[in-house]
Amino acid sequence: MSTASIPTGVTVIEHPLVRAKLTRMRDARTQPLEFRACLAELATLLVFEATRDLETRPDRIRTPLADHEGAALTRPVIVAPILRAGLGMAEGILRILGDASTAHIGMKRDEHTHLPACYYFNAPAHLAEAEVLVVDPMLATGHSASGAIARLKAAGAKRIRFICCLSCPEGLAHLRAEHPGVHIFTAAVDDGLNEKAYILPGLGDAGDRYFGTL
Ligand code: URA
Repeated sequence: MSTASIPTGVTVIEHPLVRAKLTRMRDARTQPLEFRACLAELATLLVFEATRDLETRPDRIRTPLADHEGAALTRPVIVAPILRAGLGMAEGILRILGDASTAHIGMKRDEHTHLPACYYFNAPAHLAEAEVLVVDPMLATGHSASGAIARLKAAGAKRIRFICCLSCPEGLAHLRAEHPGVHIFTAAVDDGLNEKAYILPGLGDAGDRYFGTL
């Protein structure tokens, strides 16, 4: 996808470290040990950019030498991994957002309706006050992400961002249409989906590669 055709509300995080880590993850020879490390490190890099405009409030502290007016985040952060591969991103994000809480969301395709169904939802009570970062390495059709965000909104979440490693035009279009208020951050936009809804060239099944269940 050329830069000119990136939809509004989508940020492609271009950075040499991001591209290099993503390439290691795409490589079919990369084993789960390295894949897990790269996914967590990539998530740390992505969240750094995705939180660039979070609101801060003044925080008056005293250094060993003098008073200082610094900054603290205005709102609490909740990381919301979509199971199961989102867990790998949450690990990297919690390294730099140590105070964040976690909301776990399990999504699967309903066999009859073919629509995304939520089979597990466990979120902290302060969703309405928090900045919620929904994470899933792959934005493919966009149905799981869209369903997960709808579930979070139903539970009270108001400020939601979506962070993924790989996306494609179909997933971006679907998620933007369903949730126009949710900004999407991605490391890359790939060509599209194959007949099994895998991203091409992609990296395969992120959950299988992370958990070694190939
Ligand atoms: N989920 C994955 O893990 N990989 C894809 O390519 C699409 C969805």
